[in-house]
Amino acid sequence: MGKHFRLETDNDHIAWLSFDKDGSSTNVLNLEVFAELEQHLDALEQQPPTGLVIRSAKDNGFIAGADIEAFTQITDAQEAMTLLETGQHACNRIERLPCPTVALIHGFCLGGGLELALACRYRVARDDPGTRLGLPEVRLGIHPGWGGSARLVPLIGAVKAMDLILSGRTVDGRGGRRMGFVDLVVAERHLRAGARKLLLETPPPHRASLLERLSNSAPVRPLLARLLRRQVAQRVSARHYPAPFAMIDLWRRHAGSKSAMLRAERESLAQLVRGLTARNLVRVYFLQEQLKALGKDRDYQPRHVHVVGAGTMGGDIAAWCALRGFYVTLQDQSPERIAPALARAYKLYTRKLKRPARVRAAMDRLQPDHRGTGVRHADLVIEAIFEDAEVKRSLYKDIEPKMKPDAILATNTSSIPLEELSPALQHPERLVGLHFFNPVAKMMLVEIVNGETTSPQVSARAMTFTRRIDRLPLPVRSTPGFLVNRILMPYLMEAVELEAEGVPALLIDQAATRFGMPMGPVELADTVGLDICLHVAEVLARHYPATIPASLRQLVASGRLGRKSGQGYYTWKKGRAVKPAAGSRQWNMDEITNRLVLRLLNEAVRCLREQVVATADLLDAGMIFATGFAPFRGGPVNHIHAQGKDRLLQQMHDLQKLRGERFVPDPGWQELE
Ligand code: NAI
Repeated sequence: MGKHFRLETDNDHIAWLSFDKDGSSTNVLNLEVFAELEQHLDALEQQPPTGLVIRSAKDNGFIAGADIEAFTQITDAQEAMTLLETGQHACNRIERLPCPTVALIHGFCLGGGLELALACRYRVARDDPGTRLGLPEVRLGIHPGWGGSARLVPLIGAVKAMDLILSGRTVDGRGGRRMGFVDLVVAERHLRAGARKLLLETPPPHRASLLERLSNSAPVRPLLARLLRRQVAQRVSARHYPAPFAMIDLWRRHAGSKSAMLRAERESLAQLVRGLTARNLVRVYFLQEQLKALGKDRDYQPRHVHVVGAGTMGGDIAAWCALRGFYVTLQDQSPERIAPALARAYKLYTRKLKRPARVRAAMDRLQPDHRGTGVRHADLVIEAIFEDAEVKRSLYKDIEPKMKPDAILATNTSSIPLEELSPALQHPERLVGLHFFNPVAKMMLVEIVNGETTSPQVSARAMTFTRRIDRLPLPVRSTPGFLVNRILMPYLMEAVELEAEGVPALLIDQAATRFGMPMGPVELADTVGLDICLHVAEVLARHYPATIPASLRQLVASGRLGRKSGQGYYTWKKGRAVKPAAGSRQWNMDEITNRLVLRLLNEAVRCLREQVVATADLLDAGMIFATGFAPFRGGPVNHIHAQGKDRLLQQMHDLQKLRGERFVPDPGWQELE
């Protein structure tokens, strides 16, 4: 009996090693855990059992990976190397045990957890969607380092192994079996019997096919590596995200020898761990945890959601809530207005749930309700009707008397301060903003908008609900534009300004993507819809000093609304922007980037000073999860600190002289620590 493991031997002489990390709800690996594991391995080597099962005693899963907290404390190469060597050493010993071994997997089996499982001879996984296996290290700016690639590549071939490692995606047990690295997938009640059978019968372990082995051979590797590099480069740049490229490289050079591959994994990872990208991506991971922790009111158990407005947003919000298990009634002015939302929901469920019975069950949870009878029974009413304060107020007057006394009323308004809406209510404390972003099924963040009268309990419940539908809540103050749109708008307007000056849209977008944005601002404006951009810009201009470039108004007036009308700044064909070449004139790309980014940063600083959000971390999290702000930079405020405030301020002053008042630094810069 140790601190983290329990070792028991049954009548068949099978040893069951149960991992139950002390003081933690989740199993993670660190130096202390490995030290204890090695002690058990000593005993198992000395007196080998018939077989060994490594399992987890935690409900939520097998092993979630390395202890990320410990990662952040690594300061030098030697420390990183020690952690890597220790993990590899333990996995190598498991692999060389004189008895057959099984990893018995349920729930999370990620990163270091899967690497440890791969060191076993067999892997048995529970058959349910909650069992997730993968090597998601690239998402933290690193790659496997405890033998994950050295073992997975020969087991299932380079194509499938690299797909898993380079994308960081996870698969369920069946997916793992299809790929070849899970031997048996069984229901919970058969897990132990399945493991025992493998250990007693010891069938030959999985072996890669001839084609899979070929993919790993010396003549094929350089060709495949080139292809993989090209694929990854379409998603991310090597300058910003070096890990996947390093992985491809070390595989190409060393895959012929396992020991060389293990060494290369260690050396490459020891470098990456200390790089800025990994540090910032780990920061993003913790920011996400911080947002998740906001929605933890266990006593709040909403079941029925009523959505009013079945348009672009309301329809998709309703569909998403039903997908996540809520009973949902969807109201609009007529059944015809609800029908398109149901059709979209069906498409979403077919894509996400696949099995017809589950699709049907989700559709059953989503009920059209044009008369609005659901209001009386709902725990939460989400209003997503036209963006018009008067129309919203009159709806509230109508529905509030019908609502259950403790039901919450949430508005999805994107720009109207709650103070303009709450006077219509007898109980203004029940009104909160739940500001979803478009498209609902993709965007992780939901702004929780707190008005002056919103009660803290309602706000806390809104955050809990947001977590229940697997979204990230960000509490913000009810000010015009709230946080995300407000910070984004000056950046979009600067792009419009640049375009009006004659800078080709393609170059403006390239300046932003080179900085690390997932999509350039011109393409983003076209995608969101130029009419929506103009509307939000106009709302903001009423409250903050801002000019809206005339060209934007002209485009909207002429019906060029962006993607949805087929024509905006770009021409759109089959949902894709056709981008004309940039021409031969040379433009100062650094200045274009600076103009875009500095306007965004300046607005971020202003929002922080005005306490639209409580902390700089929350601001960074909001911009990363709602807009994809270059995650490897760790968020706008983190970027300011990394670049040096004084340097950026100097650039602002220079631009102010050249381009005018919109580059005047906000007084908040002086308050930044
Ligand atoms: P939309 O125009 O697509 O849909 C609005 C729907 O509300 C229409 O189907 C309309 O028939 C219905 N409606 C209007 N008055 C009604 C009433 N009294 N009773 C029942 N149904 C009524 O609008 P969209 O884009 O879905 O926007 C809805 C809300 O979401 C707005 O407040 C908007 O600011 C906000 N929002 C919009 C985003 C977007 O990208 N479109 C993003 C985030 C928020």
